[in-house]
Amino acid sequence: MSSSSSFILFLVSLLSLQLIAASFGQLQVDYYNHSCPNVESIIRAAVERKFQQTIVTAPATLRLFFHDCFVRGCDASVILAKRNGAAEKVNPIDLSLAGDGFDTVLKAKAAVEEVPGCRNKVSCADILALATRDVITLTGGPSYTVELGRLDGRISTKASVRRRIPHANFKLPKLEAMFASHGLSLTDLVALSGAHTIGFSHCSQFSRRIYRFRSRNSIDPTLDLGYAQQLRNWCPTNVDPRIVVSLDPTTPWIFDNQYFKNLRQGKGLLTSDQTLFTDRRSRKLVNLFASNSTAFEQAFVTAMTKLGRIGVKTGNQGEIRQDCTRVN
Ligand code: HEM
Ligand SMILES: *[C@@H]1O[C@H](CO)[C@@H](O)[C@H](O)[C@H]1NC(C)=O
Ligand SMILES: *[C@@H]1O[C@H](CO)[C@@H](O)[C@H](O)[C@H]1NC(C)=O
Repeated sequence: MSSSSSFILFLVSLLSLQLIAASFGQLQVDYYNHSCPNVESIIRAAVERKFQQTIVTAPATLRLFFHDCFVRGCDASVILAKRNGAAEKVNPIDLSLAGDGFDTVLKAKAAVEEVPGCRNKVSCADILALATRDVITLTGGPSYTVELGRLDGRISTKASVRRRIPHANFKLPKLEAMFASHGLSLTDLVALSGAHTIGFSHCSQFSRRIYRFRSRNSIDPTLDLGYAQQLRNWCPTNVDPRIVVSLDPTTPWIFDNQYFKNLRQGKGLLTSDQTLFTDRRSRKLVNLFASNSTAFEQAFVTAMTKLGRIGVKTGNQGEIRQDCTRVN
């Protein structure tokens, strides 16, 4: 074969590789470069406005992204509302998703739709992924590049949330299995749990640990005793079910590695938090992230990128929703 024909063969094979990549719909960082080139700054401005109105925008949006991706993939199915029948968000587990997370996506979507060239071009799933990156940065966490090109799903059911979102009382083996089912490693699990460096939990999620761990009136021995007493003060047995407590008692509004330092002191609020330190297999990761914030940030960004790739819809599997709360 002449060298020129083998060169052409080489080009053809490169081209077909690209076509394969395109037909599998890989996410791309410059996905909206031509259709809506300023999408990132439009969303960033809307998220900043919302964040200035209420700081709970940050944890609310971050948790919303996690719950979206773990149920039917990152397709904004968690945001859908249905007139008849029940959507994901009415499942009891998702009822505790704070309204400000949903509102952040709707506000950012409205801002995108106002820009003539961008109308009906940007998916709600991508808006949620970008808004999540922005709230992490706004609270002091790392900034990172977000892969784009997710389409919005058309299906959202109350039943699909069951068994897909981890429970606060899960220990490491169950958490690991759930994350592994999405291709997320032990390192990803520990790093992503660092999201609990901001935000709140209702008392009901950990009341067993402070009131009836093995028997009546007993406290989970993996909890720091002073912290447990404080939790009892904040969450008396007859507590108003709406009362919430910071997941990170030390720096509740800052996205930092304090969460991991807390775990070393027995100040992990949920069983699913403290187990990361109690279990020998994940303890070394907790120690690493507690002592090296750069290592935490790098692992967190890697894990968020993997989280954002779960169950991505492309082609005819999805659509660009015009109203994030309804299918077209
Ligand atoms: C490892 C398994 C996980 C479990 C068992 C878990 C469980 C929980 C629970 C029970 C709450 C409190 C809900 C409430 O009472 O309102 C919560 C809050 C939160 N979770 Fe997780 N979570 C996990 C992983 C994650 C991940 C991977 C992220 C994001 C990457 C995340 C982000 C958040 C945030 C930001 C909040 C605070 C929400 C707010 O203040 O509105 N969680 N989580
Ligand atoms: C995307 O747009 C930026 C800024 O206009 C440009 O620098 C970059 O080369 C573009 N990328 C692609 C793949 O078109
Ligand atoms: C912290 O982690 C980063 C990233 O993994 C690494 O490059 C750096 O050397 C670590 N710093 C220390 C003091 O170990």
